[in-house]
Amino acid sequence: MVEQLKDEFKQQFGAGASHVFFAPGRVNLIGEYTDFNGGHVFPCALDLGTYALVRARTDNVVRMYSSQFARVGQVTWALDALVFDAAKDWSNYPAGVLAVLQQAGCGLAHGFDVLFWGNLPNGAGLSSSASIEVCTAVLAQHVYGLDLSMVQLVQIAQRAENQFIGVNCGIMDQFASGFGRAGHAILLDTNTLKFEHAPVDLWDEFTLLIANTNKRRELAESNYNLRRAECDAALAALQTVTAIGALCDLSVAEFERHAHVIVDENARRRARHAVSENQRTLQAVAALNQRDLLTFGQLMNASHVSLRDDFEVTGLHLDALVNAAWQAGAVGARMTGAGFGGCAVMLVRSAQAAAFQAQVEQAYLSETGLNADFYAVRIGEGARLLEAVL
Ligand code: GLA
Repeated sequence: MVEQLKDEFKQQFGAGASHVFFAPGRVNLIGEYTDFNGGHVFPCALDLGTYALVRARTDNVVRMYSSQFARVGQVTWALDALVFDAAKDWSNYPAGVLAVLQQAGCGLAHGFDVLFWGNLPNGAGLSSSASIEVCTAVLAQHVYGLDLSMVQLVQIAQRAENQFIGVNCGIMDQFASGFGRAGHAILLDTNTLKFEHAPVDLWDEFTLLIANTNKRRELAESNYNLRRAECDAALAALQTVTAIGALCDLSVAEFERHAHVIVDENARRRARHAVSENQRTLQAVAALNQRDLLTFGQLMNASHVSLRDDFEVTGLHLDALVNAAWQAGAVGARMTGAGFGGCAVMLVRSAQAAAFQAQVEQAYLSETGLNADFYAVRIGEGARLLEAVL
């Protein structure tokens, strides 16, 4: 694949690339909508993601091309004019990272040519956008000889999404892309950024599947920002009676004791989800460490129910897919990522995986008229330089 991309780079830009980078997408196993509430998340990096081939230029021009968006063609940015431009389509993601690097005081002394290619389904909730952002941050680190830690690179990628793209996301996706480790999920405390890698050992007995609703996320950005605002409102109400910095500072019992001060019912339910999801995440990681995958699966199910009823981000297609998985005997199944369409993650017994998939596919098709796509989860490494071409 990379060889083919090198040829494509030459065709686009007239000479060969000097470096090849990769940053993965992620699937979140549990801990949804806890990351901007100071809670825990438990994502893992995939072996799918975004590749970038680069060659430095001597002027201040950055030329970008994506073979997945050939219709958009080559896009040119000047390093002294990095301002969001809808007409420049997908290239706003990498441009946003460069803009944030500049704001952070990193001198970008010259431009470069870059070709991107990715094998994640776009807009499916597997963090295609975080993967291109983190890929750009890591390539900038090399191209400009910056001395930033991976945490800083990840934070810069998140800031690009917040400030340049306008989605007030938390840090989970970019963090998972930067800190992935093959065979491991990442238990991250989003309050302190302390994390540990937990082995995801299913001993061939169980299999993790991603199922794509093939329903593109609708209004995901505006709904996402609305949910965040509702959580902030709930926090502000709770802070009048208890000294907390984030919703997930509360245990479920503490939350229930104070919940009445959140007058707005929607805000109260959003907060209830965040607090209970944080507790489920810690319980799920403990269950996984004890090799109790049945409990892990039940917590995945409970997570989906809470995202459906309290947080209200599932929608018809994700509910149909997850219901079908439950009917077909999943050990656990839930939506993953921001919701509003996109993907679900399912834990199934390996011996039943083929029959399970066929049954879910059929049930989902007859319920929605759409075909679902399935991917076996392979947990990969985080963002990195793949190759320096000499
Ligand atoms: C999106 C965001 C993340 C996180 C999830 C929900 O993926 O980018 O920061 O909030 O939604 O858990």
